[in-house]
Amino acid sequence: MTVKEIQNEILRLKKENDICILAHAYQNRDIIEVADFMGDSFALSVKAQSVPQKTVIMCGVRFMAETVKILSPEKKVILSNPIAGCPMAEQMDKETISQVKENLPEYTVVAYVNTTTDLKTVCDVCVTSSSALKICKKIDNDKILFIPDCNLGDWIAKQIPEKQFKLLNGCCPTHAKMSAKDVEKAKALHPDALVLVHPECRPEVVERADYVGSTTGIMDFAKKSDKKEFIIGTENSIVTNLQLECPDKMFYPLSKDCICSNMKATTIVDLLNCCKGTFGEEIILDEDTRLKAKKCIDKMIELG
Ligand code: 13P
Ligand code: SF4
Repeated sequence: MTVKEIQNEILRLKKENDICILAHAYQNRDIIEVADFMGDSFALSVKAQSVPQKTVIMCGVRFMAETVKILSPEKKVILSNPIAGCPMAEQMDKETISQVKENLPEYTVVAYVNTTTDLKTVCDVCVTSSSALKICKKIDNDKILFIPDCNLGDWIAKQIPEKQFKLLNGCCPTHAKMSAKDVEKAKALHPDALVLVHPECRPEVVERADYVGSTTGIMDFAKKSDKKEFIIGTENSIVTNLQLECPDKMFYPLSKDCICSNMKATTIVDLLNCCKGTFGEEIILDEDTRLKAKKCIDKMIELG
């Protein structure tokens, strides 16, 4: 079968089997082309709540499929490939953070959405990279324990110097690969380009950027900008997405190594088999855990 034939079969099966396909913006193009929606992790989970289909296939990583299930318990939610986890989300667990909390009882625990459902049950509020600053400012406490990403936490903390932040050692191994040297090299090659980076990058990269923002933030900034060239410091699918959406502009990866192997674990054949019901993993959450985890997502919606 050709890729086009597989895509056509997916389009036929998703109609026949009442399936909505969500694709994170870091997925491969062949998957994005057959998805009902493409976006960032939180936007997709919110979108899933209002789609008419009874089954949702999340082409992304495990915490994203879990977030969809937390918000839409009545839907059958399938993770497109069971091995697709987010290493950052798996760096911290409920037991460790419960212990840390015991030593810091006066701190509000802010969890990046890239966390497991289990860990969310002991956190106070969730954030995404686009809502973190606003929510941390609004929290009615000057003491914030920000988990798991110390790079995102550092970027937020520097913008709210009046609050006291405690950070732990988590980070995204994909974004943390990029260094100040990569920025200098890319700038030397493309001196007219603006540098747009994700706040999961290390502080030495963030400090050298012209714009720092979420996946959606970077894409919106580049589309609206009058400038013609951009160096992109996030997963390299965003370079491709932008190049296709803005053919009159030029996009360069900050590093050729910024590829998330977990996001790329799902293939178009995996997706075909998910639509047939022979592959993927149905996300099952026990109701007590789901409701406890939902509390910190509800708080994010309230404050964001
Ligand atoms: P978004 O929340 O922007 O989708 O990012 C998720 C992620 O994993 C970034 O690396
Ligand atoms: Fe997780 Fe980083 Fe991959 Fe995003 S890019 S899914 S944070 S490992």
